[in-house]
Amino acid sequence: MQTNSEEIIPLPLNFKTHANFNLENYKDLQASFQQDYLGTWAKLAQEELFWHKDFLQTLDDSEKPFYKWFPDGETNISYNCLDIHLKDRGEKAALIFEDEAGESEAFSYKVLHARVCEFTAYLKNLGVKKGDRVCIYMSLCPEAIIAMHACTRIGAIHSVVFAGFAAHALKDRIDELSAKILITQNGFYRRGKMVNLLEVATEAISGNSPIEDLLIFKRVKEPLSLQSSLKIQIHDVERELKNLVHLAIKNLNLSTHEVPEQTPEWLSGNDTSFILYTSGSTGKPKGIEHNTAGYLLWAKLTSKWVFDLKDEDVYWCTADIGWITGHSYVAYGPLANGATVFIYEGAPNFPEADRYWALIEKYKINIFYTAPTAIRSFQAWGLEYIEKHDLSSLRLLGSVGEPIGTETWKWFYQNIGKSKCPIVDTWWQTETGGIMISTLPGVNYMIPGTAGPALPGISAEINPEGLLHISKPWPSMLKGVYKNPDRYIKGYWTTIPDSYLPGDLADIYAEGYIKIGGRNDDVINVSGHRLGTAEIETALAKHQTVNESAVIAIPHAIKGEGIVAFVVLKQGLMNSTDSQQSHGSTEERERILKEHVANEIGAHAKPERIIICEALPKTRSGKVMRRLLKDIAQDRLPEGDLSTLEDKDVVAKLLAVAKLKR
Ligand code: WTA
Repeated sequence: MQTNSEEIIPLPLNFKTHANFNLENYKDLQASFQQDYLGTWAKLAQEELFWHKDFLQTLDDSEKPFYKWFPDGETNISYNCLDIHLKDRGEKAALIFEDEAGESEAFSYKVLHARVCEFTAYLKNLGVKKGDRVCIYMSLCPEAIIAMHACTRIGAIHSVVFAGFAAHALKDRIDELSAKILITQNGFYRRGKMVNLLEVATEAISGNSPIEDLLIFKRVKEPLSLQSSLKIQIHDVERELKNLVHLAIKNLNLSTHEVPEQTPEWLSGNDTSFILYTSGSTGKPKGIEHNTAGYLLWAKLTSKWVFDLKDEDVYWCTADIGWITGHSYVAYGPLANGATVFIYEGAPNFPEADRYWALIEKYKINIFYTAPTAIRSFQAWGLEYIEKHDLSSLRLLGSVGEPIGTETWKWFYQNIGKSKCPIVDTWWQTETGGIMISTLPGVNYMIPGTAGPALPGISAEINPEGLLHISKPWPSMLKGVYKNPDRYIKGYWTTIPDSYLPGDLADIYAEGYIKIGGRNDDVINVSGHRLGTAEIETALAKHQTVNESAVIAIPHAIKGEGIVAFVVLKQGLMNSTDSQQSHGSTEERERILKEHVANEIGAHAKPERIIICEALPKTRSGKVMRRLLKDIAQDRLPEGDLSTLEDKDVVAKLLAVAKLKR
């Protein structure tokens, strides 16, 4: 297929000549991968990572699809992100943080390393060891990143749960992980309001919970009450840490500025570094398990190649640590390259809709990586917020998480990048560990709305049905689904034999440019957050009034997709929907059900609309006809073949209730 050449945007000359990765490197590497696929990965791994013990085997595929990368080598993620920079970059800023109130803090590599070592000692003191699962439920703040690094330093498996998740969702993850430690904070500020994370965390572990120790960082000035009826140890981390460091200094005769060095645990390349839950097509999210060496190798290389990270850059990725982007492109990849990473804890429109632009101006951000949903909001808020600020420090922009679309791409390019910053539209997933498809800013021209070619080493293909698949294993691939090998095999490796199936549809154009079309399964993407329709239906089913439901997504101007839930209430409730006295009005029911979903999963899963109906449109074999619901939710007369419907009258009834709701 040919693309419209008018759409091509050439790379700026300075990138062609000065990028970390240029056309020559690209051609050499492509040729090398073609000649010797595994040998090239081995060479990159030797060049890029510090190995405590060299690996002899690059890939063990004897139990495929449970591929094991660098299984006999020994390394450590945190060591590769921090210790290796101490000599040359000790005083360089590793992390710069600003909270919503405008308080900021900078951590040099030396200080970040010291803080990670302290917290490592603290966790070890609590008995945390290699292989233990540690759950982190925190905002995007330095302590969260320190906690992640302390875990990888010990070889404890961290599982970060996005701070927007509700108590039930947190509890499900803790239980499946059998996590003994939960790290949280007493709160943080978002849009000027205190978010009480501790309350949610406490609710999640009340009752039967594997958690033995609850660690609380005091991040807001509320007094910390350590009284609780829970049968667990509750820790004021700040106070205990101080005591621990004090004691260590005394015992080891160190000066007050020294921190006891914490030798990292040397892990096998294939040991699990972290588990991150993501939504799939069933009601239960799946724990995506990542390895150690292959994951870090690709996070490091892609940060260097795709973002063209240079020593003098200030890099800002707006993703939260609760998502994979916050792992690979906030906590690990950029630090492995010795970069300066900026993080911001608050909302983009607080106190005004220009907060991001003010931050870019203040910290002279050079690289800005965000999500299309955010860009669409900036677009809606208006140019006046942007024009107030000097964005001339920016030199590269990035997009991730959902299709950006041609118009939003162009808006971003013109108004934020002032038509001089290349945009990298990066396609990847929680499962892939790192970016798989993207243009490289020193190599490839751009086509607005088209992600670009697969990166070197990544074998992306598209089958005749339009399914994107990856035909060769790559180092940062997931190593499995936690406690569920069947789901790993069936979900990713069965549809196309020996090929990894991400579940996205795509088209391929000239020169291997790939345009992502969206999901091919029941996973929806709301503001760049993955949610399973079945997951929302399972949450709705838990409400006492709900008999059954069907959830679909419809296009949403800002969020990309919006959730609509068709709900059938339990018998006896349907006929009295408008009798306020007995069961409340329809509006009230809808509000309650929306809140219920937010309480079960999190606010990001709250449906835009709940449509209470008498029955769902089902085929004779009992399957819900979702395309029909999609039409109805968008005020369209259903198209296509409806002959397999069990009850044809259902269409008219659905149209009537859906319209009534406008
Ligand atoms: C979608 C986020 C189009 C895709 C890193 C994928 C994208 C899912 C893009 C993974 C992009 C991600 N263009 N769609 N540049 N990037 N997606 O696991 O459907 O939260 O399967 O990882 O987001 O979402 P996840």
